[in-house]
Formats: sequence, structure tokens, C-alpha cells
Amino acid sequence: MKINATAVVGGGTMGNGIAHVLALNGYGVMLVDVNDQILEQALGNITANLTRQVKKELITEASKAAALERIRAENDLSACKSADLVIEAVTEALSVKKEVFQRLDKICHNEAILATNTSSISVTEIAAVTNRPDKVIGMHFMNPVPVMKLVEIVRGLATSDLTFQTVEETCQQLHKTPVEVNDYPGFVSNRVLLPMLNEAMYCLMEGVASKESIDSVMKLGMGHPMGPLTLADFIGLDVCLSILEVLHNGFGDSKYRPCPLLKKMVAAGYLGRKSGRGFYEYQ
Ligand code: NAI
Repeated sequence: MKINATAVVGGGTMGNGIAHVLALNGYGVMLVDVNDQILEQALGNITANLTRQVKKELITEASKAAALERIRAENDLSACKSADLVIEAVTEALSVKKEVFQRLDKICHNEAILATNTSSISVTEIAAVTNRPDKVIGMHFMNPVPVMKLVEIVRGLATSDLTFQTVEETCQQLHKTPVEVNDYPGFVSNRVLLPMLNEAMYCLMEGVASKESIDSVMKLGMGHPMGPLTLADFIGLDVCLSILEVLHNGFGDSKYRPCPLLKKMVAAGYLGRKSGRGFYEYQ
């Protein structure tokens, strides 16, 4: 199936990056968020990130202008009605995702593919609230989307081969490297990553070392580009907590129990980079 028009639902950290990459690679994008202020910020971020790419001579001024021309922003989900591919990037909560997919299923044309960028929630469960589970799939982009090459393509139990192939080809059009995974809590990326971030938080909570020392050990000792606490701030501490809860509930294994310090920080509104404060402080 040929994908022409696309829509991205949720204009936060991930949604604006996904819209950026789609538009830069020639797709028309309808960016939808319930919050007008977020939409304004998203368009500002996309412009700033495209400008950075121009300065680094990765793209031309003309391709930046063309990409911006291809993006429209709306606060109403019905704006997705002509999209052939909708990529959902709303808050990581099953109830929110279920409601969005139920509505998209009614709004979108019969052939449209509905993808979720969820980090951990079951694609099969999301698909089950629609009348097109064969056309529901996970497209798990990495943060920051314009930079990171990987997309985990997550097959739900009912996802058809045609849907998989169409999404795989779309990822290639976006110059991303798709990797096929099956639908289990946290898929591969977050099942492996989050226990490490969680353990770093336990180390901090138990006073094993300072946050800077923990990050230095993993950067200098293990060759990670970013320390685990810096990375958790970058991902968003609320997102980290949601993923750990999905792993914990999904496997019923205490090794995934979220660190109490993480819970406390999220309760206090310390969500990391996006809120100006997490393990570190940000301007
Ligand atoms: P975020 O909190 O930055 O953005 C979520 C956006 O969804 C907000 O702007 C909110 O206004 C909007 N929203 C909420 N309900 C909505 C609705 N009913 N209709 C339209 N918009 C709605 O979250 P973020 O970090 O962008 O995460 C989005 C998704 O991407 C989550 O499923 C998350 O697990 C996943 N993800 C996050 C990564 C990260 O590093 N932050 C990495 C990969 C995936």
C-alpha cells in the first residue's frame, strides 16, 4: 500500500520529532494535539531542529522550507481523516491510547494503518479496541527522532504481513533502520534498557554514589554516550515510571519494580529535562 498523507497524534517530545522526520522525507503531516500550546511549541522545536540541521549542512535551506510547508497542526483528531498512516505518540497510558485508537478507527478511512509509538504498552491490546487489528502496529522511534536510526516495528498478534511490509518500507523512506520484534512488555529496547536505568536510581537512593559518579561509571567505564540518570531525565521520568510499571505488571517479576526514588520524583513533578528538573536541573 502506498502511504501519501500521514498524521501524528501527540505533539510532545516524540510527536514533534516524528512529524519532523516525516515532513523532511516528503510526507504531508497533520500534527494533532489536544493542547494548543504544545502544538505551538512543537512547531517551534521542529523549526529550531531543522535550522540546526541546515547549520550542520545536513540539509539545505530549501528542504527545511519544504518540510515546514508539509506540516499542519490541529487540535481535533478528526483532522486525521485523510491520513493513510497515523502514528500515535500521546501520553504513555493505556486508557488514553485506547480512547485515541477507538476514535481514530471511526475517523480514518478503511485502509489506513494505525501505528503506536508506545514504549511498552501491548500493541495487541491497543489493536483489540479497533475493528482493524490487522492494520494496527507498533512503530517505536527512539529519542531524539531526527538523530536516532532505529525504529522497533512491533507486530501485534493480529498485525498483517501487508501492514508490516508497508511500515517497514515507510521506515526505509525515512532513512531509518527498522528491526522487527514481537509484542511483549517493553519489546526489546526498553526491556533491556529500563532495568539498567532503574538500578542506577537504586544506587543513587541507597547512597552507593553521587549522580555524577553513577553517570561517569557508565559513560567512561562502559562506553555509553550518556549516563543512565542523564538518559532517564532525557526520556522523561514519568515515561520511565510508566514503562517500569508495564514491565512489572506484565511479567509479574519483582526485578522490574520501579525505584521508590523515581516514584517520589514523578509525584513531585520532577519529570526530567521537559519540566526543567529531574536528577539534574535544566535551564
Ligand atoms: P509527552 O508527554 O512529551 O507528549 C505527549 C503528548 O500527548 C502531550 O503533548 C499531550 O498533550 C498529548 N496528548 C495527550 N492525550 C492526547 C489526546 N487524547 N489526543 C492528542 N494528544 C494528546 O510524551 P512523549 O515522551 O512524547 O511520549 C509519547 C509516546 O512516545 C509515549 O507512548 C512514550 O512511551 C513514547 N516514547 C517516548 C520516548 C521518550 O524518550 N520520551 C521514546 C520512545 C517512545
